[in-house]
Amino acid sequence: AAGACRPRDKEPPQAARALREFTGAYPLEARPNGTVRSFDIVAEPTEVELVDGQKLRVWAYNGQVPGPQLRIRLGETLRVRFTNRLPQETTIHWHGVRLPNAMDGVPHTTQRPVQPGETFVYEFTPKDAGTFWFHPHVRSSEQVERGLYGLLIVEDTAPPPYSRDVVWVVDDWLLDETGQVFPRFNTRHDLAHDGRWGNVLTVNGRTDTVLRVRPGERIRLRLLNSANGRVVMPDFSGLDAKLIAVDGLYLREPIDPAGFELAPGNRIDLDITFNQNLAAPLPIVDRFSARRPNVLAHITTEGEPVTPPAFASPARAHVPAWSEGLHVPEHHAFRLNARRGGPFGIEWTLDDKAFAGHSAHHEPALTLTSGRFYRLRFVNESARLHPLHLHGMFFRLLARDGTPVEEPFFRDTVLVHGNESVDIALVPTDAGSWMLHCHILEHAEAGMMTLIAVR
Ligand code: C2O
Ligand code: CU
Repeated sequence: AAGACRPRDKEPPQAARALREFTGAYPLEARPNGTVRSFDIVAEPTEVELVDGQKLRVWAYNGQVPGPQLRIRLGETLRVRFTNRLPQETTIHWHGVRLPNAMDGVPHTTQRPVQPGETFVYEFTPKDAGTFWFHPHVRSSEQVERGLYGLLIVEDTAPPPYSRDVVWVVDDWLLDETGQVFPRFNTRHDLAHDGRWGNVLTVNGRTDTVLRVRPGERIRLRLLNSANGRVVMPDFSGLDAKLIAVDGLYLREPIDPAGFELAPGNRIDLDITFNQNLAAPLPIVDRFSARRPNVLAHITTEGEPVTPPAFASPARAHVPAWSEGLHVPEHHAFRLNARRGGPFGIEWTLDDKAFAGHSAHHEPALTLTSGRFYRLRFVNESARLHPLHLHGMFFRLLARDGTPVEEPFFRDTVLVHGNESVDIALVPTDAGSWMLHCHILEHAEAGMMTLIAVR
């Protein structure tokens, strides 16, 4: 493993330097401390009081939407005994977690799908602390939409002393006139647009979420966008809020969260200090669509003031600049496109290839060598949004439309806008077959998925 990170002779000098900078960025190996944390998870149809107290028929992990919050410490081993009581086969994918390929939850690639009635044990030691999530990787446009998702929080070995650690899971539901989940999935409308955008936005499964804090509290707020298609841009102006982590990993330094596009799959962690009383409940508004802002939730201050805990921001990770990365020859440019055909009438393609379902045989689109520096490009030849997600590794955004972008953080999901090209850089470290796909789940189901092999 350590030897796998040696630059090759052929590598351009910039890449070799980028690689040296990289090796301190995040640990190559997990460091299990011997503690195993066991959870049981059952997926089954149930009813929850989700939206305004009405009964909604959902599919849920352990009877709740969002599913259970799994919290462990870095170094601990997670063991999940998973039972499928759905009417369909399924798996659990651990989004953003660097883990052994066999635990990645991709049907037919990393495991047999878990049939109704069957049990499968997922066991791994995460290499990184941070905010991660889990969801099925079988018919995900249906299974995630029906309510199957949960958070995996890996705490630091010594968590920073926030007054509170709060989680907001944002979801977007398309309900029909009876108030139930609209039962047709992968419609032509969804496929011709940015996937399934709903008519009810929830935070932690409610439309009326209020976060009540005491003046002086300093909180860590973790946000996940678990929607199938909707992108949100939460506005925290009016608060002393700093972005400290993206897709799990800490930033190089805290930055203003304004303008962050939280696409399906993305997570952000904020460090918010309530220096003053809020005069009135503050709405946190999604401003992704300037014309149609949505209120996600409210924050109020109440109660006796407390003294804010004083500590340095945990956002001081080693994040290589990689500005030279743009001069490294591009390894591959993926073209993102749509065409007529396929089981849903419209197919979404990468390099004119539509993924023919997990059960078909697939040659990897790319075979990358562990420990090498790569620049990849995504060229969106369509007018639609594509939040591209890569399993099993993090990457850095280098440029949008050829213009360098310096983000002080890694990602596992990047939103590619209509007709945009995006350059990313990465150093794969873990061998296996890893998926690259659009996290607009309808686009993924309609073909926008592929495999990347790492040797
Ligand atoms: Cu959120 Cu292929 O994953
Ligand atoms: Cu897409």
